[in-house]
Amino acid sequence: MLKRKELRQESVNRRIVWEKPFFLGVLIVVEKPLLIVNNIEVTYEHVIKVLKAVSLVVPEGGMVALLGANGAGKSTTLKAISNLLKAERGEVTKGTIEFDGMRIDLMDPAKVVKRGVIQIMEDRRLFEHLTVERDLLTGAYTRRREKAAVKQDLEMVYHYFPGLRGRRNTKTGYISGGEKQMVAIGRALMARPKLMLLDEPSVGLAPLLVREIFDIVGTLNREQKVTILLAEQNVAMALQIAGYGFVMENGRVVLDGDSQTLKDNEDIKEFYLGLTDIGKKSYRDVKRYKRRKRWVA
Ligand SMILES: Nc1ncnc2c1ncn2[C@@H]1O[C@H](COP(=O)(O)OP(=O)(O)OP(=O)(O)O)[C@@H](O)[C@H]1O
Ligand SMILES: [Mg+2]
Repeated sequence: MLKRKELRQESVNRRIVWEKPFFLGVLIVVEKPLLIVNNIEVTYEHVIKVLKAVSLVVPEGGMVALLGANGAGKSTTLKAISNLLKAERGEVTKGTIEFDGMRIDLMDPAKVVKRGVIQIMEDRRLFEHLTVERDLLTGAYTRRREKAAVKQDLEMVYHYFPGLRGRRNTKTGYISGGEKQMVAIGRALMARPKLMLLDEPSVGLAPLLVREIFDIVGTLNREQKVTILLAEQNVAMALQIAGYGFVMENGRVVLDGDSQTLKDNEDIKEFYLGLTDIGKKSYRDVKRYKRRKRWVA
């Protein structure tokens, strides 16, 4: 097993050979990587080291899941990419982040947005005093002059989220949790994202709604060609729509693979999908802890 995560870049046609840190150094080739997170470390308040040597790749047009339990470091990874850490007194202290062939880890967050990286925060951050439509339009604030295109995009959002059309004049403070998540995704779409960083869309929603929203996210990825990095604790759901997944624990990526491989992985079944007897018995089983130690080792 490789000791250190390594990202080796071959510049020929921007073809990237990514040396996987797990699975005995098998090489995977990502034809068109849109996002490359290379060995980053994130520190909060100058001393609290939260991410350690996190590497991941998201191919153009793909949907990749970032999986893990509470506090694993998923949101921190997304904020490192969108460069929103500063607001929380955090910073990338090692490593690099490349988007669309350019380093973005030192870039101003507004510029990162302009380049097409749009994050949908876990708490959705809606403007509760605005109506649904006004809130959606704030997503297109950098494109104020493109009136016709913005109108068309608004129609596109209503096409994917038909329920929002009837709520267009309602203040977002009064709509349901599911509708709020839809507005948050719709607002991100209004910015014409190349990469959407979607942080736990399932949080606080009933299972049926989660399924509906995930279906729509999958459709957006296919039809609108939006590349998506999806952070989720709901591993079963995420692996249904994502093509590839990275599993995080304690600020590290401990496992990665295509969705089918992850679904078939005994540890994933046991700890995250609850499909084995052990998983059903207790989520905090001692064995689980030992096995996890084995991953991290
Ligand atoms: N501003 C901060 N200052 C200090 N520590 C922080 C800060 N934000 C997060 N952390 C810590 O960093 C770790 C990772 O947190 P993060 O929010 O990235 O996890 P997560 O995987 O998104 O979890 P969840 O599923 O609960 O959202 C946690 O231990 C958390 O306590
Ligand atoms: Mg989080």
